[in-house]
Amino acid sequence: MPKIERSIFGMIKNTTVERFQLENDQGMSISLMTYGATLLEVVVPDKTGRFENVVLGCATLAEYSAHSPYFGATIGRVGGRIRQGKWLNTQLTQNEGEQHIHGGVNAVSHRVWEVLKSDVENLSVTLGVVSPAGDNGYPGNLEMTVTYQLYADNHFEIITTGITDEATLFNPTNHSYFNLSGDLKETISEHQLEIGASQVALMDDSKCPTGVLAPVANTAFDFQAGQTLKAFTKKEPQGLDTPFPLNEGADFAVRLTDNVSGRRMVIETDANAIVVFSTTGMNEPYLVNGTRPMVSELGIALEPQQLPDAIHHDHFGDIVLPEGRHKSYRSSYRFDTIKQKKLKE
Ligand code: BGC
Repeated sequence: MPKIERSIFGMIKNTTVERFQLENDQGMSISLMTYGATLLEVVVPDKTGRFENVVLGCATLAEYSAHSPYFGATIGRVGGRIRQGKWLNTQLTQNEGEQHIHGGVNAVSHRVWEVLKSDVENLSVTLGVVSPAGDNGYPGNLEMTVTYQLYADNHFEIITTGITDEATLFNPTNHSYFNLSGDLKETISEHQLEIGASQVALMDDSKCPTGVLAPVANTAFDFQAGQTLKAFTKKEPQGLDTPFPLNEGADFAVRLTDNVSGRRMVIETDANAIVVFSTTGMNEPYLVNGTRPMVSELGIALEPQQLPDAIHHDHFGDIVLPEGRHKSYRSSYRFDTIKQKKLKE
């Protein structure tokens, strides 16, 4: 029987943070918490049927609030960077040099969300938060919800909605870092990454897009037929921290495969881009999942969203949420395993 287990994950500033674990008939489970509407764990079988966790997180709530690089968090109001934190006459918090990133300081990724619904029949949990007018400079009281829903066929969906009482910006994402080896046995260097993108957004030194969408053909950034992260970093040692505009009508946004465990994940989204962050060079003393220190390429963040800094580039998509209009984004994460065959490097 599908089930939902509800428990207490911790306390932050006298507020209780709850954890939900959703499990389907096949034994796949996802866990989330009300702090940051954060995805905590995704437990799926490898090719031998062994169930292990395939996302990065922290063991405790205190660690999430102290140093998590947005592990699994819901990012809002806007994911990625906004150049100089400027939107027309509005000045947003500049929390990374001159830029605004991930909604600012103590944004919704760092707040305790309310439980709106826990529905065992549909294996779904819906959380909600209100970002008040003026939050990090954004106009409008924005009501956000996030629904996590797990299906019997080993895929789950994240649906994020927003509605505001005054025009504002809305470009949310989920910031999960994946590692399909299972329980962080290996890094993701040998994972095979395919991206349904024939173009890449070029960026300047501030990591903001310049506005140019360049073809990936004949460059290291061509992931259309797949390559391992190791093969990519041989050509581009700094790794990926890169927005890819998705091809219209592509079968998937991203397909990530680990040949050793046999696990494969396919992400589909109705957002127009995926930001890929390979954590290359990210060596940190803190423990991930309470087991091992953060090392370069321990995980890969795959962030479905409208292209970053869209507000400054007309062809990047419209992220203005008008007053009273309901906006919703849906991303799906599907898991299966491959037969034992060697994938190309
Ligand atoms: C950004 C990275 C950043 C990371 C953690 C990613 O979405 O693209 O540049 O280091 O988030 O904040």
